[in-house]
Amino acid sequence: MLNIAIDGPSGSGKSSLARAVAKKLQIIYVDTGALYRTVGLYIKRRGIDPSDTAEVIAALPDLSLSMTYEKGEQHIYLEGQDVGDTIRTPEIAMYASKVSAIPEVRAFLLDTQRSIAEKNSVIMDGRDIGTVILPNANVKIFLTASNEARARRRVAELHEKGIEATYEDILRDMALRDENDRTRAVAPAIPAEDAVFLDNSDLTAEETVTAVLRIIAEKTAEKSEK
Ligand code: DC
Repeated sequence: MLNIAIDGPSGSGKSSLARAVAKKLQIIYVDTGALYRTVGLYIKRRGIDPSDTAEVIAALPDLSLSMTYEKGEQHIYLEGQDVGDTIRTPEIAMYASKVSAIPEVRAFLLDTQRSIAEKNSVIMDGRDIGTVILPNANVKIFLTASNEARARRRVAELHEKGIEATYEDILRDMALRDENDRTRAVAPAIPAEDAVFLDNSDLTAEETVTAVLRIIAEKTAEKSEK
């Protein structure tokens, strides 16, 4: 079983990278941010303030969430309904960032993430994959890029989905969300000690994929030599 962990801030290109690598290596891509976004969506639908930790925790026992793979594509069901792109808005991203700081929310999603990696070869992206979820991953990569490069990419990505967003708003939201994610007490978004750093500010998406495939080949060769 091959487990690859990709961590890094939002907009560093983790998801397009992980999706491309999964396709190349014929393994499953697990987007863990989508799970936190789905919890965020649920909290919003329940009319709960995501900063109200006690209320969020109290709502967890009623949360019915499941993740499936259909034709290799991840689907998340909230109360039996596929969330699709409803979790992709900046508002839901902010809800996700807030609820993801709550240890009970992270514990709630832990098994879903670990069990898929136990049974399948996966490339999983998130914030704490190398540090908490898959500490024994065969390969760990911490992907990063400058704030400007990340904001530019995120705006383009949202526009492609038909979601209006300005560069200034995204840059500001991103800085705020990064700060939340990096400074929270539980599972902060920091690199694992044994992660390989990759800054892709000046790399195209394809160049990033090539660089990561090289890292994976090197790491897996090193391990089989040991
Ligand atoms: O990667 P993303 O933008 O879809 O993530 C949404 C939020 O979820 C992000 O602000 C941080 C949180 N998150 C997390 O805490 N841990 C993960 N493994 C993935 C995402």
